[in-house]
Amino acid sequence: MRKILVTGGLGFIGSHTVVELQNSGYEVVIIDDLSNTRREVLDGIEAITGNAPDFVELDLRDKNAVFNFFQGRHIDGVIHFAASKAVGESVEKPLLYYENNIGSLVYLLKAMLDNDVRSFIFSSSCTVYGQADELPITENAPVKKAESPYGNTKQIGEEILEDVTKAENLNVIALRYFNPIGAHESALIGELPLGIPQNLIPFVTQTAAGIREELSVFGDDYPTSDGTAVRDYIHVVDLAKAHISALERLLEGRNKSKMEFFNVGTGKGSSVLEVIKAFERVSGLDLRYRIVDRRAGDITAAFADTSIANRELGWKAELNLDDALRSAWKWQQKNK
Ligand code: UD1
Repeated sequence: MRKILVTGGLGFIGSHTVVELQNSGYEVVIIDDLSNTRREVLDGIEAITGNAPDFVELDLRDKNAVFNFFQGRHIDGVIHFAASKAVGESVEKPLLYYENNIGSLVYLLKAMLDNDVRSFIFSSSCTVYGQADELPITENAPVKKAESPYGNTKQIGEEILEDVTKAENLNVIALRYFNPIGAHESALIGELPLGIPQNLIPFVTQTAAGIREELSVFGDDYPTSDGTAVRDYIHVVDLAKAHISALERLLEGRNKSKMEFFNVGTGKGSSVLEVIKAFERVSGLDLRYRIVDRRAGDITAAFADTSIANRELGWKAELNLDDALRSAWKWQQKNK
């Protein structure tokens, strides 16, 4: 059985990926510092798959702990989710983001190479494209200057990996996620936003659940069909499955270069108002919302051209926006 290290494996995307790894026959060891999740996520994973993954509580900024972790352990590949991800917070605390997202990456790569681990999947983001000049966005669209320290850590992370693959025997796939939403159909795992959600879907489901008064729609004067901003919302289970495809490409040596980049989205853009309508349809509820000013730093529209990922990874998103919203609502209701 192949053994995969999943850093941040108790987080939103990480936990769903651990489930898909176990379902595909991999043995998993999780590293997580529990800074933005809960230990109970392990129980959810075990309830779904019947298997408790190995778990090591560890902060990747602790270089010695990272090196010790690899001692005497055989690891076939690493999927690296562990990172801070709040755009606003990154503006307030840039050094936290550079230390946590970049420092940790460097230690992890050094420890991997010291221990002959050669396959690495990196969590990147469509944020590297900024407001792309052409839609849908292909992997060849230029990387634009980052709007925030968070976005910059994704760009720098990709650059570090590119440099390292040139110098070392290391194979990397960077997956550029569009907007991950939804939850496992069992509602045993899902997103656990701490405090007031910054992202659209958790805010929608919390408003529907009566936790928030109303949803603020950030701007209706964008040059889109209904004036609200457009994103490519991808079901987290589809996103998790893309990691399995990418990992197998590396483990089987089917990658075409030592550093590859793939867009992971559905290829379909939805406006904020379309998301609200879809949510009302699947939940049978009326959502309280109000149009307010644009949010600083938001782009008009982003959705993926997924043809390269579809072809090269043999992967395609199978679930749609309604499926994702239904699962997010089921998860919210269970976790009131
Ligand atoms: C945001 C980050 C992005 C990051 C991603 C991670 C910003 C500017 N971008 O993406 O870098 O990779 O999260 O999850 O923060 N919206 C509302 N009302 C709300 C919340 C959101 O109208 O209460 C709108 C936003 O204006 C946007 C859309 O919903 O048009 C999606 O927002 P969000 O879920 O925050 O994702 P992004 O901004 O696309």
